[in-house]
Amino acid sequence: MIAYLRIAILAGAASFGSQAMAQDLEILHWWTSGGEAKSMEVLKKMYREKSNAHLKESNIRGGGGFNAMKALKSRAASGTPPAIVQMKGPEIQEWGQQGFLTSLNEVAKEEKWEQKVPDVIASYMKHKNNWVAVPVNVHRVNWLWYNKELFAKYKATPPKTLDELFALADKMKAKGDLPFAHGGQPWQDATVFEAIFLATAGPELHKRLFVEQDEKALDDPRVKTVFENFRRYVSYLDSNRAGLDWDKATEMVISKRAAMQIMGDWAKGEFLKAHAVPDKNFGCVAVPGTDGLFSFNVDSFVFFETKSATSKKAQNQFASIVMSEPFQIEFNRNKGSIPAVLDVPLQDFDSCAKLSKEDFVKASKTGGLLPSYSHQMALNVDMINSLAEVVSVFAQSQMTAEEGVRNFKKVFKGNKI
Ligand code: BGC
Repeated sequence: MIAYLRIAILAGAASFGSQAMAQDLEILHWWTSGGEAKSMEVLKKMYREKSNAHLKESNIRGGGGFNAMKALKSRAASGTPPAIVQMKGPEIQEWGQQGFLTSLNEVAKEEKWEQKVPDVIASYMKHKNNWVAVPVNVHRVNWLWYNKELFAKYKATPPKTLDELFALADKMKAKGDLPFAHGGQPWQDATVFEAIFLATAGPELHKRLFVEQDEKALDDPRVKTVFENFRRYVSYLDSNRAGLDWDKATEMVISKRAAMQIMGDWAKGEFLKAHAVPDKNFGCVAVPGTDGLFSFNVDSFVFFETKSATSKKAQNQFASIVMSEPFQIEFNRNKGSIPAVLDVPLQDFDSCAKLSKEDFVKASKTGGLLPSYSHQMALNVDMINSLAEVVSVFAQSQMTAEEGVRNFKKVFKGNKI
């Protein structure tokens, strides 16, 4: 898929690696919302304090990182990929396979990364046993965020099942309150669809379909029910949501214009940035029906091969900062996620983060720890985009659940929808 990019470079484009001034270290990422930018400030500050190199940011708007991945492809095709790129999951393997990435083994060995990162995360960071990336955090995707004041108005406690969730949404809708804030981009549809998939069809089927890519899993009648439940969820949404960004949707929950949002815990970064207090102004629970399940999403930075020794040194310094305890604490307290490095104390984290860690540990013992397909932890970007398109078209049309399943089948078979 990205092979042609490598060919373009070998065919005589400029040498790869950052083309900026020697002391510039370019970093491409998609953290542009209020909470994300605040977290990024933590990283920039720590880097400034430790290194002479200047971090030159290329930040590409667009939640989920799909625009950023597109931008990276064109940068690579022109022979000037950035030195550091925010990237996740199988994409790392694809870029590694094409020979774009540089090894961090030296610093990894020196700092004993092997002992610091759980295997389930480390396996994503390595290509052919070489460390090519560092993990920033662990985000949980299957969260329900809710406005406590609006819940109090309905004397509601957090629903435990999808039926209870929809019953509460019915009450809110009847009284003119918007039950769910939901943005207008396919990746946001995919995020909620995955949570509803887990609540409806369970972890085994999720693994079979999205991890093992066994398209026969689609014959299980529960997949049709997933589409039906998703259709029900869509019936509560504001029809005026085209193009709405995820953080603007979170803002609606913060300001009581909507009661709930199903979104990963980067949403918490927005609540905190707005000085909303967990357990007081807002609450967090696993999406009803997914208790005990943890759909994980690990942000990481990969390092592109560079010809300059100065850049290489600056990359190593950067990697070392990301792996350090102060960074893992400070960054993740802002970002909404939990540290990816083992044994980092959580005493200064809020209750949602503590619950996240507890559930991560529990789920890893029970088989409930699942790589989030919608957030690039199981499938490559092209496949995710195709599946997301099916879900979005389904949401905006009168398509039946059977047709939805049939379209998923086409994607898994590699056919046009
Ligand atoms: C990333 C988060 C990011 C979110 C919204 C997710 O895929 O893992 O770090 O905040 O997208 O952009």
